[in-house]
Amino acid sequence: MSTPLLSVKNLEVRYLSATAKAVKGISFEIQPATCLAIVGESGSGKSTTALAIARLLENSANTKASEILFEGKNILNASKKELRKLRRERIGIVFQDPIASWNLSRKVGTQLLDAFDKSERPERREKLIHFMEKVGIDKAAQVIDMYPYMLSGGMMQRAMIAGALLGNPVLLIADEPTSALDVTVQADLLHLLSELRKEQGLAMLLVSHNLAVVSQIAERTVVMYSGEIVEEGPTSTLINSSKHPYTVNLIRSMPAMDQPRKVNLYTNEVRNASSEGCVYANRCPLVIPICNSQKPELQLIGETNVACHRHSEVKKLLEVSNGSITSDS
Ligand SMILES: Nc1ncnc2c1ncn2[C@@H]1O[C@H](COP(=O)(O)OP(=O)(O)OP(=O)(O)O)[C@@H](O)[C@H]1O
Ligand code: SF4
Ligand SMILES: [Mg+2]
Repeated sequence: MSTPLLSVKNLEVRYLSATAKAVKGISFEIQPATCLAIVGESGSGKSTTALAIARLLENSANTKASEILFEGKNILNASKKELRKLRRERIGIVFQDPIASWNLSRKVGTQLLDAFDKSERPERREKLIHFMEKVGIDKAAQVIDMYPYMLSGGMMQRAMIAGALLGNPVLLIADEPTSALDVTVQADLLHLLSELRKEQGLAMLLVSHNLAVVSQIAERTVVMYSGEIVEEGPTSTLINSSKHPYTVNLIRSMPAMDQPRKVNLYTNEVRNASSEGCVYANRCPLVIPICNSQKPELQLIGETNVACHRHSEVKKLLEVSNGSITSDS
């Protein structure tokens, strides 16, 4: 395997206003020109992870890590100036909330071109129009001079994707990049992002609640639960032969590609997860005493890394329970 484009080791994040950590020592890598997805229910720490990598939580959270190596350099040591350059030229970011991410009183183009020197803007403007057209914005030359409040949520999200591609990044961090779009155009836009990825050798960190979305474009997937990684591996293996009970249940509760997000993904139990034992113990139908006293480490089993004392039994238990992982055996 080649040198990773991004290597994250032992990332921990605690929001200043919270007592519990939102992300609890996670590690993963992204290879150049590949897509890694982070999935998990609401509140599991997906966006926090994405924002921490781009060092966008400086004012609201304490972030620690052994390292966040991007193109061989530790982002944790980067100065503000270096970070700005990095975000302008190497890392594109699509935020989860398309409306909150815009200043509604400044024109779309003005905001997206802000990061670039004045002398560069005319050329970048043309490029921005090109990318806006590519992501399906009609009359991009006019939309660029509109105010965000004049656009629909979906259009704002498309414009943000175009803006994120503007600096020719090598890594696109995309947090639920299609969530504000009509379900019928989600697949088109994902396909387009895949094409752009191939054309430009772009790597991607895709955050999504939807494994159906992820399965279309991500080579590898990380499953997060309550700030921890419970399973990680090649996406198809992870979906077809999950070894963690949470992944199994996550797959079962996922809406299909053409269904809207379920509203009941978050549960308070996530916050009360055990700190000594397995993070999933208070919801796991397969829990046994050791799960409450000893934390299962992530270990490589076949092609996937899995953190479960009973990983070898999950498949069998599923068969016994006729495909429904609802009770202990
Ligand atoms: N600004 C903040 N201040 C305090 N706590 C926060 C803040 N943002 C997120 N959190 C908390 O951190 C945890 C992780 O949140 P995060 O937004 O990363 O989850 P997520 O997986 O992206 O969820 P969703 O699918 O809803 O976007 C949650 O418990 C959340 O309540
Ligand atoms: S370690 Fe125990 S509680 Fe945790 S997922 Fe596995 S079986 Fe369930
Ligand atoms: Mg989020």
